[in-house]
Amino acid sequence: MERLQKIIAQAGIASRRKAELLIQSGRVQVNGKRVTVLGTKVTEKDKIAVDGVPVQKEILVYFLLYKPAGVISSVKDDRNRTTVVDFFQQVPQRIFPVGRLDYDTSGAILMTNDGKLANRLMHPKFEIDKTYIATVHPVPEASQLRKLSSGIRLDDGMTAPAKVQLVESDYLKKTAMVRLTIHEGRNRQVRRMFAALDIHVRKLKRERYGFLSLAGLHPGDARSLKPHEVKTLYHMTHLDTGHDDR
Ligand code: URA
Repeated sequence: MERLQKIIAQAGIASRRKAELLIQSGRVQVNGKRVTVLGTKVTEKDKIAVDGVPVQKEILVYFLLYKPAGVISSVKDDRNRTTVVDFFQQVPQRIFPVGRLDYDTSGAILMTNDGKLANRLMHPKFEIDKTYIATVHPVPEASQLRKLSSGIRLDDGMTAPAKVQLVESDYLKKTAMVRLTIHEGRNRQVRRMFAALDIHVRKLKRERYGFLSLAGLHPGDARSLKPHEVKTLYHMTHLDTGHDDR
């Protein structure tokens, strides 16, 4: 619970003193009702407006989650499966995933309530690199690795050039691990790229999202981004400053 004038001041609309005057002069609404009492307490969930214009009071938060396989990358699931948001029950802000990973895919996923940054990061023009490690069967041939890197024709068009590296191969078991960096974010893209070559992806993990790696995290762990990491994401997407600027 916070005092109404503090929230208005924190949103950068007015100084604390000016916020008090706004309240006293009847220009502030809480959940659609005019409030003129100074010191009225509000929570994150109350909708505050000044002269009818909503105040964006939510603090912007940013997390990197190591999504385990078997978790859905959405805010809600109609089949009651665990979602990425379930890992943040202590976080009062309404956060959501930036993009998605398949139910069966594990790895790095960014979670935030910063809609503006999320939209930019998901926009193809910013070409955010995503690095995956795929356990595949059978072992890809050199010509297939070349195709993955130069572009594969999928039913929604050619894929952009990718970085591809054969990390490990087991010719007895006919399995391999391939690291693949792509900047597109089409639905099930990595699985479809391999499927187009008759290669089956048994396991898929996203090791990196842009410059953010899973270092120090185990499946199900999350960490807050550091201020300089948020700043870098802003720079990468040509959003300059002002995290309140949604
Ligand atoms: N490509 C896929 O096939 N699945 C993912 O979850 C992400 C990329």
